[in-house]
Amino acid sequence: MSKSLIQFIIEEQRAIPGATGDFTGLLSDIVSACKQIAHQVNKGALIGVLGSAGSENVQGETQKKLDVITNEIFLKSNEWAGHLAAMASEEMDDIYPIPAKYPKGKYLLTFDPLDGSSNIDVNISVGTIFSILRCPEGITNPTADDFMQPGTKQVCAGYALYGPNTMLVITSGNGVNGFTLDRDVGDFFLTHPNMTIPADTLEFAINASNERYWEAPVQRYVKECIAGKTGPRGVNFNMRWVASMVAEVHRILTRGGVFMYPKDTKDPSKAGKLRLMYEANPMSFIVEQAGGMSHTGYERIMDIKPSGLHQRVPVILGSKNEVERIVGYHKEA
Ligand code: AHG
Ligand code: MN
Ligand code: MN
Ligand code: MN
Repeated sequence: MSKSLIQFIIEEQRAIPGATGDFTGLLSDIVSACKQIAHQVNKGALIGVLGSAGSENVQGETQKKLDVITNEIFLKSNEWAGHLAAMASEEMDDIYPIPAKYPKGKYLLTFDPLDGSSNIDVNISVGTIFSILRCPEGITNPTADDFMQPGTKQVCAGYALYGPNTMLVITSGNGVNGFTLDRDVGDFFLTHPNMTIPADTLEFAINASNERYWEAPVQRYVKECIAGKTGPRGVNFNMRWVASMVAEVHRILTRGGVFMYPKDTKDPSKAGKLRLMYEANPMSFIVEQAGGMSHTGYERIMDIKPSGLHQRVPVILGSKNEVERIVGYHKEA
């Protein structure tokens, strides 16, 4: 039998001088939350969790029942053990300080509890995305300001994919590893060691219905892909769009590809759709650790100094040579 996720993390942490076990403890609580979410997602209509909650989140999105349930699962699983000083979620207006009755710890956790929630009622893959930061030295009551750290400061990032299999894919800056949930045993086991993204690809992912809102460099790139063999690229490209970023990134980690939710003019008050703290940064960390590249078209995503908890950024990530080409088109324009 292959290694369990917790065995893997303990062995990885053992190699770090001065490691206290706090990080391992935190990760084990996150794993437990993901298992509970997997259970809810898999039962679906049988336990009445599908459909809308009738509320709206700070992003202005209508919340699904499962957006609310999964957010609660993440908070409850991670608040009690003393590893965290605060949390922040896509589904909450403000940060979530650890309640006074629990000890406080040295990490901050940000998460998107249910990614791709528009897919939940149609039984298509969804996921959870998380990122761990260090709470700044000497701070015991963090504010939103303490979360404003660039993605390069992430200690760990990961996602759970609730698809035909439930998987957990994580990095703590030492490559990317994938684990599959064995439901009978109740544990995740290492099934995809050292995941890497091929530098070249003939597959791209974008919501093409937004074409008229994209900037010229992205329009040019997609046009050239679609032109195929007789176009300037001289090869045929394939396209996919799941509308679950987790599923999209997982496909890219498995067989390569490029994923774009670029800057557009659909809503001029927003720089893009995806959120820096809950989606773009953790996925960028994973993609870079797998040898890929993650960029806005103008700058490396992980270099952005966040200006707000719910800040949105353009995202172009995946196979290195293609992302480089798209960045090049931005420079030329
Ligand atoms: P969430 O369900 O967490 O709000 O995120 C949905 C995101 C992302 O997963 C996906 O790539 C994108 O929104 C889909 O957007 P469109 O519906 O515009 O295609
Ligand atoms: Mn949402
Ligand atoms: Mn999301
Ligand atoms: Mn979400």
